[in-house]
Amino acid sequence: MPTLGVNVDHVATIRQARRTVEPDPIAAAILAELAGADGITVHLREDRRHIQDRDVRILRETVRTHLNLEMAATEVMVAIALAVRPDYVTLVPEKREEVTTEGGLDVLGRLEAMTRVVESLQEARIPVSLFIDPESAQIEAASKTGAQLIELHTGRYAEATNDSKRALELESLSTACNMARQLGLHVNAGHGLTYWNVGPVARLSGMEELNIGHSIISRAVLVGLERAVREMKTAITL
Ligand code: PXP
Repeated sequence: MPTLGVNVDHVATIRQARRTVEPDPIAAAILAELAGADGITVHLREDRRHIQDRDVRILRETVRTHLNLEMAATEVMVAIALAVRPDYVTLVPEKREEVTTEGGLDVLGRLEAMTRVVESLQEARIPVSLFIDPESAQIEAASKTGAQLIELHTGRYAEATNDSKRALELESLSTACNMARQLGLHVNAGHGLTYWNVGPVARLSGMEELNIGHSIISRAVLVGLERAVREMKTAITL
């Protein structure tokens, strides 16, 4: 069964709505770990709309599981990652105007630049994961960069409007997962996963970690974070 990385970005979204000090994503990360989270994920966006630099620095001190830093592949972000030293970095595409990360990285189209970023992090012994769509060309390109991991974008699966479309998207995730494993990559997945759609993705052979944020934090607002995390762990293991 895959492990669960809890993304606490949206705890910071609530805090930033008032630019105050609560709720604190540090406290959320501690509670998530106590409830069984296997990792904590945060996305330090260029526009700092939710997670702030201070959050990442403190999480580095407090996270007892592992810290996954999602970030754009820019020089400024690489410098931050080298200073903070998360347990691994997930490189994601970033557009200022988007509500959330839209597509996967175009690793194929930016192979040289991506390889340089992967090398500069991995030379410092920070493993790199590339967030990509479940497409063979992107998986091959990801492998060429030397990245140790990929995260398969589950957005198309999550947004499928009927069972047959969902089954097709699950099939492409499965094929992508198998291909990546054969190339020696570790495979994570995430984006748009919920209590209702996570099961089939969790059961894909070779899937190692699921990074889930919005659905857990949404439930946490109503039932509390510890219960929300425990229920997601159950949904993954069923
Ligand atoms: N994985 C990546 C790479 C992401 O960018 C996000 C969104 O920040 C997630 C997982 C989590 O997505 P969601 O909030 O829809 O669970």
